[in-house]
Amino acid sequence: MRSHYCGDVNTAHIDQTVEFSGWVNRRRDHGGVIFIDLRDRSGLVQVVYDPDLPDVFATAEQVRNEYVVRVKGRVRHRPEGTINPDLPTGEVEVLGQELEILNRAETPPFQLDDDDTSEELRLRYRYVDLRRPVMQQRIMLRALATRTLRRYLDDHGFLDIETPMLTKATPEGARDYLVPSRVHAGRFFALPQSPQLFKQLLMMSGMDRYYQIVRCFRDEDLRADRQPEFTQLDLEMSFMDEDAIMGLMEGMIRDLFDNTLGVTLPDPFPRMSFAEAMRRFGSDRPDLRCPLELVDVADLMADVEFKVFAGPASDPNGRVAALRVPKGGELSRKDIDEYTKFVGIYGAKGLAYVKVNALADGRDGLQSPILKFLPDDAVGGILARTGAQDGDLIFFGADKAGIVNEALGALRVKLGHDLDLMADGWQPLWVVDFPMFEWDDGENRWQALHHPFTAPKAEHVELLDRQPGDALSRAYDMVINGTEVGGGSVRIHQEAVQNRVFQLLGIDEREADEKFGFLLTALRYGCPPHGGLAFGLDRLIMLMSGASSIRDVMAFPKTQSASCLLTHAPSDVSQGQLRELHLRVRKPPTAEKAAAGEG
Ligand code: AMO
Ligand code: AMP
Repeated sequence: MRSHYCGDVNTAHIDQTVEFSGWVNRRRDHGGVIFIDLRDRSGLVQVVYDPDLPDVFATAEQVRNEYVVRVKGRVRHRPEGTINPDLPTGEVEVLGQELEILNRAETPPFQLDDDDTSEELRLRYRYVDLRRPVMQQRIMLRALATRTLRRYLDDHGFLDIETPMLTKATPEGARDYLVPSRVHAGRFFALPQSPQLFKQLLMMSGMDRYYQIVRCFRDEDLRADRQPEFTQLDLEMSFMDEDAIMGLMEGMIRDLFDNTLGVTLPDPFPRMSFAEAMRRFGSDRPDLRCPLELVDVADLMADVEFKVFAGPASDPNGRVAALRVPKGGELSRKDIDEYTKFVGIYGAKGLAYVKVNALADGRDGLQSPILKFLPDDAVGGILARTGAQDGDLIFFGADKAGIVNEALGALRVKLGHDLDLMADGWQPLWVVDFPMFEWDDGENRWQALHHPFTAPKAEHVELLDRQPGDALSRAYDMVINGTEVGGGSVRIHQEAVQNRVFQLLGIDEREADEKFGFLLTALRYGCPPHGGLAFGLDRLIMLMSGASSIRDVMAFPKTQSASCLLTHAPSDVSQGQLRELHLRVRKPPTAEKAAAGEG
C-alpha cells in the first residue's frame, strides 16, 4: 500500500509517481486548494489537492486529522517562497491524484503537536501519544540501541539465554511481586527482581558468557527513573576479573554511543573510588558535568561556638562540608531561601552561607548570618580551602554525613543546572571500591551495599571477621551524567566465603538454605570464578534520547502509582479465579457503597 515512506521523499523523486499510507497530521483548506500533511513513522510530507479532479477533491474535503489514508500522486518542487527548511521533505510536495480513506478517526483526545498534554491523558490514549514524532524517535532509538548491543555481544561470544519469570524471591532488596500457585495451594512464585542467581548458575553450567534483555519486577516506590517492571541488559562472564569485565563493557557502551548517536566516549572511562565520589560530590553517582565540589571543613569547626557546626564536626558519623559557588554572590535572599527549602527535602535542617563580596576587606567584605559565630582562623581556613574569589558564595551543610552528602550532592547538581554551569556532552565513569556492607541503624545490622553474592577484595577477606565495615568489594557501577546506568560485581565463587557473608548479613543457615540453598549446593559442584553486571536499559535510553522520565522511553509504562491507565490494570478478578488460587480477598468498600453506608 505504499511505494515510499513519507519522510523519505526528496528532490531526487521529482516527477515520480509515489504512493503513501499514513495518518493525516493536519488538513488545511486554502480556498480552492487543500493541503494534507501526511504522517508515518518516518516523518511528514505535504500533499496538495486542487479541484481539477473533482472526485478526489471531494474526498480531500471530508478528511480530518488522524484519518488513515492512502495517497497517490506526483512529486514536484514546492513553489518559491513555500519551502520549509525545518522539514526534511520541505523542498518538495506531492500533487495528489488519488486519495482513499482507509479509516475515519474521531477527534483525537489531544492535539498531537501540543507538548503540554497531561501525562494522564497521554497514557490513557497511549496509541495516539506514540504517534507523536518525538515518541516514535525514542522508540526507534531504543530498537536501534538493542540491535547495536546485541551485535556487539554476538561479536564477543555472548549467548542469549532466557531465565524463568515464575521463580523464587531474588536478593535485590525490593519488595517482590508474587504470583499465587493454583496447583500448590498457599504457595507463591515471585517475579524476578533480576536474573541474578540464574545467571550465576549459567556460569556454573559452563555457558561462559551470557546476556539477556530481560524484564525485572520490583514493587518499590516509583520515581522518574524507576518503574515496577523495567528492562535490564543483564550479563555474566566466566574467568574474567573486574578489569576485564569493565573493559569489555565500556567498549560496548562506546560502540553503542558511536553507532546510535555518533558520539565518541572517552577510552578508557575514568574510574573513581566510592570514597572519593562521596567526599568530592556527596554521591556515588556523581554528575561530572558540574564543576562544583564539596570541601570538608569539619577540622576547622570542632571548637567553634556555633553548635550547628561544632556538633557534627566532632561526631565520627558527622560531616561539615562547604560548597563554593563561583559568582554565587548574585543569588538573592529569595534564591537562598528556595535552596534552603530544597535541601530540606533531603533532611538538611538549614543551609548556612557566606557571601564573599571583597576578600581585601577582611571580615567586612563578607556577608553571612553565621559570621558572628566563627573565629578569624576558621573563616580564613574556609576561604583558603574553598579557593574563594570575590563575588562567590559558599554554602555549608552540617549533619550526619549521610544527610550532608545527599543534601549538598543534590544541591550541587541543581545549582549546576540553574546557573548554567553544566559542561556539554557525556561524562561516563566507573565508581569502584565500594564497601561490602553498610550499617543499618534502624535494623541494627549490616546490609550488603550491592547484593550478598558480591565478592570482597581478596586482601579484605580477613576483614570480614575483624572489621566488616572496612572491607571493600569487587563491585563497580557505571555512571553517565549523574545517572547510574548499570552496576555489578565479581561474585563469590567459594561456598565458605558465601556462608561467611550470609552470616554477617544476619542470614542464618536455615534461612540461607531455604532461600539460596540451590546456589550454595551448586557452588560445591565446580564453580568458575565469574562476574557480571546489569544495565538499566530504560535509563540508558532515557539519557541517550534526552527524555526526562523512563516512562517516555517505554511503549506502555505504568503510572507513579503502579497502574496502567490504558488497560486499567491491576483490575478485579472473579471469585471463581480467586477460589482456584486458594485466595480470599476482603476488598475495601467502593466509594459509592461507603457513601451509602453499605460498606
Ligand atoms: P541493580 O539492582 O543495581 O543490579 O540493577 C541494575 C540496573 O537496573 C536499573 N534499575 C532500574 N531501572 C528502572 N526501574 C527500576 N525500578 C530499576 N531498578 C534498577 C539501574 C541499575 O543500575 N543483579 C544485579 C546486577 C548484577 O550484579 O549483575 C542488579 O539487578 O540502572
Ligand atoms: P539558626 O541559628 O538556626 O538561625 O541558623 C543559622 C544559619 O545556619 C541559617 O542560615 C541556617 O540556614 C543555617 N543552618 C542551620 N542548620 C544547619 C545545618 N545543619 N547545616 C547547614 N546550615 C545550617
